Amino acid sequence: MSADYEVRGGIAIITMNNPPVNGLGHATRSGIFDGLKKALADGAVKAVVITGAGKAFSGGADIKEFNTPKSFAEPNLLTVIEAVEAADKPVIAAVHSVAMGGGLELALGCHYRVAAPGAQIALPEVKLGLLPGAGGTQRLPRAVGVETALNMIVTGNPTPSEKFAGTGLFDRMIEGDLMAGAVAFAEEIADRRPLPKVRDIEINLPNRETFFKVARDTVAAAAKNFPAPLNCVDCVEAAVTMSFEEGLKVERESFLMLMQTTESKALRHYFFSERAAAKIPDVSEDAAKRPIRTAAVIGAGTMGGGIAMNFANAGIPVAVVEMNQEVLDKGLATVRRNYESSLKKGRLTQEKFEQRLGLIKGTLSYADVKDADIVIEAVFEDMSVKEAVFRKLDEVMKPGAILASNTSTLDVNRIAGFTGRPQDVIGTHFFSPANIMKLLEVVRGEKTGKDVLATTMALAKKIKKIGVVSGVCDGFIGNRMLEQYSRQAGFLLEEGCLPEQIDKAMEEFGFAMGPFRVGDLAGNDVGWYIRKRRYAERPDTIFSKTADLLCEAGRFGQKTGAGWYDYKPGERKAYPSEWVNAMIVNHSKELGIGRREIGDREIVERLVYALVNEAAYLLAEGIAQRASDVDIVYITGYGFPLHRGGPMFYADTVGLSTVVAAMEKYAKGRYGQFWKPAPLLAKLAAEGKTFN
Ligand code: 3HC
Ligand code: NAI
Repeated sequence: MSADYEVRGGIAIITMNNPPVNGLGHATRSGIFDGLKKALADGAVKAVVITGAGKAFSGGADIKEFNTPKSFAEPNLLTVIEAVEAADKPVIAAVHSVAMGGGLELALGCHYRVAAPGAQIALPEVKLGLLPGAGGTQRLPRAVGVETALNMIVTGNPTPSEKFAGTGLFDRMIEGDLMAGAVAFAEEIADRRPLPKVRDIEINLPNRETFFKVARDTVAAAAKNFPAPLNCVDCVEAAVTMSFEEGLKVERESFLMLMQTTESKALRHYFFSERAAAKIPDVSEDAAKRPIRTAAVIGAGTMGGGIAMNFANAGIPVAVVEMNQEVLDKGLATVRRNYESSLKKGRLTQEKFEQRLGLIKGTLSYADVKDADIVIEAVFEDMSVKEAVFRKLDEVMKPGAILASNTSTLDVNRIAGFTGRPQDVIGTHFFSPANIMKLLEVVRGEKTGKDVLATTMALAKKIKKIGVVSGVCDGFIGNRMLEQYSRQAGFLLEEGCLPEQIDKAMEEFGFAMGPFRVGDLAGNDVGWYIRKRRYAERPDTIFSKTADLLCEAGRFGQKTGAGWYDYKPGERKAYPSEWVNAMIVNHSKELGIGRREIGDREIVERLVYALVNEAAYLLAEGIAQRASDVDIVYITGYGFPLHRGGPMFYADTVGLSTVVAAMEKYAKGRYGQFWKPAPLLAKLAAEGKTFN
């Protein structure tokens, strides 16, 4: 039984006990149900308190049980809540730490609720593509008012318990010993009748129609690819317009419907994937870590400044080393401008603004950073420059300091070899803008120490990044896959597409931006530089030459006022370019290719399956630890649509044999050699299995 039972005086106490967050799995539900029965049958018991052991009242339904028979097994959550509400002795929820989803719904079914301050109160189901399915949409509006409840249900965001003092949600806030306070409260109200029920509270909402119209418009604009938020509005409206029982039925139907949607499955996949990414098979979670109290960054360019901001935001003092005063001043001025912009937008208080800027110091001397616990190199992407920096770091840094490189393509093992302490060297591949993007690829070198890896992953969490471990290879997980995606985009131009058609197809699929708009934003010269290196290293390298022709014309993107698209001064809007389109058509002619009409489906398949196939190689090579890590990389670093769950999850939903069949079709076309299914993909498809 994952709920404990005891009687203190005349008060029965049922304590949910299902670590880590008292998820309401079958055993916990049964424990509450049986405990309640026992308490009601015991003549000596006058009232019942329900609480949670450890670090939560309850985090809600056990999402690990979803899609298994256990999730609906009796007593299901509705049955438990119904029994609690129908009890003929008062039932009191003693809420602390976390009361979310089904946990909050259980509390709302109790006759009374008391709470410790600082507890996180939320109905976060919408973040899993669902809505509260155990009465939350019907009871919360009755307890806290329609507007507050709707906000909570549609956003899923937590509110601290003390904010509800004086509302129908909490009858008493208890400072100090929660259980002592809850038992005292239970004794106080034990004989009061009738027992209050949230379901009986009348809702009074003037201007109902206008209220829900505005709510629907706002939610529809924000929800885009997700059905759940609008269903939340429907259910809250049902709470206002229908009887409690009818409203409950509407809620139940919507909940069951949403549970089957791909969007909800994708969001649940994302939830578990994010947590799985933090786990490293051969490094235990409590592995020894090195303390990180101070940091240093080498290079105050595009990346260095942003990386430094991450440390300052987390309260860690950071020194930035540059080559000369002028570049250093320029870099630090950019950092200041970024903070000033947050200050102006009200995202930062004056105090925090000063505090954060105060934590970042510029210097021209390595001697000033020798005692830092971690140093991140973000100098030019050139092995000889990296070599000089790492040799210097090896010379000056204190023993035990972590030496990290932000390289995006270079061999971290070679970089480690420039030092006499390769176990202390690791790659930390931030994404631009480094102060904003959530993803951090943590590149594990051959000799990287386990404690260094564990420390860097913990640091990622501390600076609010999602760390994903990657092995060493050219491009790591994300950029190595991107190369295949970009290659197909280039071939499509040669075969008949124009940039705007490809971008539109990918944006309709759900990408934040299509590949050509991304190129114009990030700078087409970055890819050009990499391709030139590839042509030099491997003369048989094949890319479409269109991107090279674009760069030869100086069209690097927004920063040069022209790229795949034309730009007007002061505007970010991309205008299709006659020059570019003519260049593309002419290039096809030079290659002797008869341009053809290409449908959006082919565009999406070729770009996305190119990602999937490369990722299958990465998995087989052990560069990526698990398919879900690839999904996290693409969603958090490359704008892959969240509602599709990442490339690997998407391929799973399409069916891997369907993916392989499409690849076989494309293999018969131009450059068919790029469509050979990776052995892992072919094997999984043949066995009818999935990546995740
Ligand atoms: N069910 C099962 N496992 C859960 C869970 C839940 N509801 N919530 C968290 N967990 C697990 C996590 O998967 C993780 O497991 P792991 O250690 O094996 O990786 C572990 O608990 C710890 O989770 P966090 O790392 O997230 O711990 P934090 O302390 O940072 O956060 C939390 C705790 C705030 C509860 C956070 O986990 C959270 O937001 N959980 C989701 C809550 C949620 O969405 N609840 C609604 C569920 S749906 C529902 O209730 C339907 C109902 O309306 C019918
Ligand atoms: P950048 O050119 O904007 O900045 C590099 C800075 O390093 C310059 O300010 C330069 O003066 C300084 N520098 C060079 N040698 C130095 C030395 N010996 N000592 C101190 N400072 C030195 O380059 P950017 O874009 O910031 O890139 C830095 C690194 O980050 C590269 O390895 C790059 O591949 C990587 N990266 C870049 C991304 C991007 O989008 N720009 C994304 C992810 C990684």
